[in-house]
Amino acid sequence: MANLIAGNWKMNKTAKEAAEFVRELKPLIKDSTEEVALCVPFTCLESVGREMGDSGIKLGAQDMFWLDKGAYTGEISAEMLLDLGVEYVIIGHSERRKLFGDTDETVNNKLKAAIRHGLKPILCVGESLETRQAGITREFIKGQIRGAFEDLKEEEVAEITIAYEPIWAIGTGLTATPEQAGETTGIIKRFTETLYNKSVADKVRVLYGGSMNASNAEALLQQKTISGGLIGGASLKPVDFAAIVNHGKN
Ligand code: 13P
Repeated sequence: MANLIAGNWKMNKTAKEAAEFVRELKPLIKDSTEEVALCVPFTCLESVGREMGDSGIKLGAQDMFWLDKGAYTGEISAEMLLDLGVEYVIIGHSERRKLFGDTDETVNNKLKAAIRHGLKPILCVGESLETRQAGITREFIKGQIRGAFEDLKEEEVAEITIAYEPIWAIGTGLTATPEQAGETTGIIKRFTETLYNKSVADKVRVLYGGSMNASNAEALLQQKTISGGLIGGASLKPVDFAAIVNHGKN
């Protein structure tokens, strides 16, 4: 399975800046065999999608609502994303859980809706520093996974990519060591197997996210339970992001 190297731009770039980024990125990653996705603000989806053309880069969004239409001011539906060519959608990012009220239950609703519409969800899980220091990371992550997967059938779970993003490593410059990241992504894989079976766990791709950059990407991606990265800060400049996509070749 190819790695998925996905950028999460968060709330950065106008539509014009976004198109310029893609124009610069394309030649820098043209020889890569990795799967590459850009999860961009809703307002950039159209310009980024147009600029990507037939480059093979995948278009991603950063959130969605679980209902199809109606009086939900400010929300975006799966159908609206599909209409703009979106393939991936981040669900349950820790910033949305902390700042915008996402819970295991709403994350579960969003996952179900995304899968029902044929979008590929990137489910984010990850512990805070307090949780890690208290030595309860394993139980915390299992709780997040159990909540996210509630009532999902095995063929639905097989569509999900999980991003393990320790909150203490996001935007802090602190990266989980390859061993820490490998251990927790291993927990995620094994727990998926416990809840479902080995064939489902083998299909679920697990990414690492949290201060990933060109210098640490190769060591993290060497871990056998890590199949890619979800990259924030280092995905905002074409050269930095391309260096991660081209990891191991520099
Ligand atoms: P940083 O790469 O900026 O730490 O962000 C990680 C992240 O939150 C990706 O979703």
